[in-house]
Amino acid sequence: DWTMRAFREEAIEKIRAQVGKGRVICGLSGGVDSAVAAVLIHEAIGDQLTCVFVDHGMLRLDEAKTVVDLFRHHYNIPLVHVDASKQFLGELAGVSDPEAKRKTIGRLFIDVFDAEAKKLGGADFLAQGTLYPDVIESVSFTGGPSVTIKSHHNVGGLPERMNMKLVEPLRELFKDEVRVLGRELGLPEIFVGRHPFPGPGLAIRCPGDITKEKLDILRQADAVYIDQIRKAGLYDTIWQAFAVLLPVKTVGVMGDGRTYEYVVGLRAVTSTDGMTADFYPFDMSFLGQTATRIINEVKGVNRVVYDVTSKPPGTIEWE
Ligand code: XMP
Repeated sequence: DWTMRAFREEAIEKIRAQVGKGRVICGLSGGVDSAVAAVLIHEAIGDQLTCVFVDHGMLRLDEAKTVVDLFRHHYNIPLVHVDASKQFLGELAGVSDPEAKRKTIGRLFIDVFDAEAKKLGGADFLAQGTLYPDVIESVSFTGGPSVTIKSHHNVGGLPERMNMKLVEPLRELFKDEVRVLGRELGLPEIFVGRHPFPGPGLAIRCPGDITKEKLDILRQADAVYIDQIRKAGLYDTIWQAFAVLLPVKTVGVMGDGRTYEYVVGLRAVTSTDGMTADFYPFDMSFLGQTATRIINEVKGVNRVVYDVTSKPPGTIEWE
């Protein structure tokens, strides 16, 4: 793709011009965007870059391993793996308002990056994989007055005290362009083709307050759901799919006993840029089999529902 080749060359020049001999740390989220940003920046400035992968305890199943393998082993890019799950889950305990969750997570990310930068002897820049739609959606609602729909964890600049400047080489790109750039940079297809994953992670897929118990249930249900989608050959047709754990228990029956357990919501949408989306019209038999598998394989769940809301009026994530 010649446009992306040109973009790549230009972006590399811009990064070099902005960063000079400075030190950069790049936050990896496990998503495609931050991975592409990191590989691009590494190409521009080599070992002036250190990547920081923060495990905030709200990642998908096996996420940390996938990311660490890719960066340390495939790319040989220096990577600090921080387990901050106690800190994040501790501060989020009892927080149930969606914006309060997002803001708490955003603040903690900054604290962790700040602390890691100090450990590295200081950093001049913080790199992020912010995309164009992230910028727009945090700023205003299309065509309407300026209303924040969701505070994206990685938009809005850095606090004064941080003394770091932002490097955001993907700020003008849409998701599909980031994937083309990722392929151009040689990222493995399995990584480039991954569905988007939001920085606040499973926190915004667990309406209400978050506990480790709920997150563990959600992680397992999500893994079963994605496995079903892959086995049905639908993963690449769907823009994004994930499970949500509802803060509701309902009554069920298993064998000759009563159960009282959580409800899992399933979400799947088609989209081109995440700004609008349609719910994915699965076959009923697929949904039925997936529900059966989740209830049989995941302890703590006895009911599964499918979300048939498009965007607008729904958003893709539930919070
Ligand atoms: P919504 O829920 O706003 O999501 O329709 C649109 C797309 O953005 C992703 N998303 C985020 N990505 N940080 C991110 O990096 C965030 O705070 C965030 N919030 C939502 C969402 O997964 C979907 O792909």
